[in-house]
Amino acid sequence: MLAIVLGAAAGGGFPQWNSNAAACRRARSDDPAAQPRTQASVAISADGAGWFLLNASPDLRQQIEAQPLLQPRSGLRSSPIKGVILTGGDVDAIAGLLVLRERQPLTVFATAKTHDILDANPIFNVLASDIVKRQRVAISETLTLGGAEAGGRLRVEFFTLPGKVPLYLEAQGETPPIAETDGTVGIEVQDRGTRLLFIPGCAAITPSLATRINGADVVLFDGTLWADDEMIRAGTGPKTGARMGHMSVSGPSGTMAAFEKLEVGRKILIHINNSNPILLDDSPERAAVEAAGWEVAFDGMEIRP
Ligand code: MLT
Ligand code: MN
Repeated sequence: MLAIVLGAAAGGGFPQWNSNAAACRRARSDDPAAQPRTQASVAISADGAGWFLLNASPDLRQQIEAQPLLQPRSGLRSSPIKGVILTGGDVDAIAGLLVLRERQPLTVFATAKTHDILDANPIFNVLASDIVKRQRVAISETLTLGGAEAGGRLRVEFFTLPGKVPLYLEAQGETPPIAETDGTVGIEVQDRGTRLLFIPGCAAITPSLATRINGADVVLFDGTLWADDEMIRAGTGPKTGARMGHMSVSGPSGTMAAFEKLEVGRKILIHINNSNPILLDDSPERAAVEAAGWEVAFDGMEIRP
């Protein structure tokens, strides 16, 4: 299996278009220690020929142009991208589907809940139904991806995570419940016994999630915030990480602490918000995550589990 991080940042990217915070200014100024990152997505392949995207970020067009392996190789119109696998209905997971609208055959794999969101929004009908398949995948159903030419070795499974409805579906003025439904899922990719998990948004590590994570070769995990209240303290927003359905990296109930008891080959933080200081190569927070055995994903990162 080969996995390539197409984008490592959370929704908004790094820098975020309307942020004038110090870190975003550094990212705009070609500071080598503040590398810009596009919005979270990973491409996976068994053989390097056929590719599947884990989420379709709003930056997908730019991500394809930055990655020769995802560009057309034959004929007048073609693409090595055979499908997209969605973890939920958040804008940063689905908006890139609109980039894939030029009558190219592919399959969109998602849970029933996420497909209901796509089906309810007519803008996605721009993906013509005669060539773009929408395949509903049940939790724990095992998909075998593609034919031989598309890397038929990959086995893919969804698993539920504690999370919330997408921001644009929240009831105005109400705090949405954090619940474990098929609306927010993680993706497990297996290739001949090697396991990679993609978990870009997760509110808590439940016992069943801990069991799944244990023994994985690679885990790409929710690195949205360093501290639960960092956006409030920075004055950039009123929400905590918990309110947004994201556990934080630091702290006694944070991600680093939760993983201490787990056995994982490579632990990689992804979906990193522009407020998170681990984005800066020279920050003490970056040093702390690295000392705890974590890697910080960057655009173009290649993973060979
Ligand atoms: C999230 O990860 O919490 C969402 O992508 C936020 C958003 O939709 O902006
Ligand atoms: Mn997001």
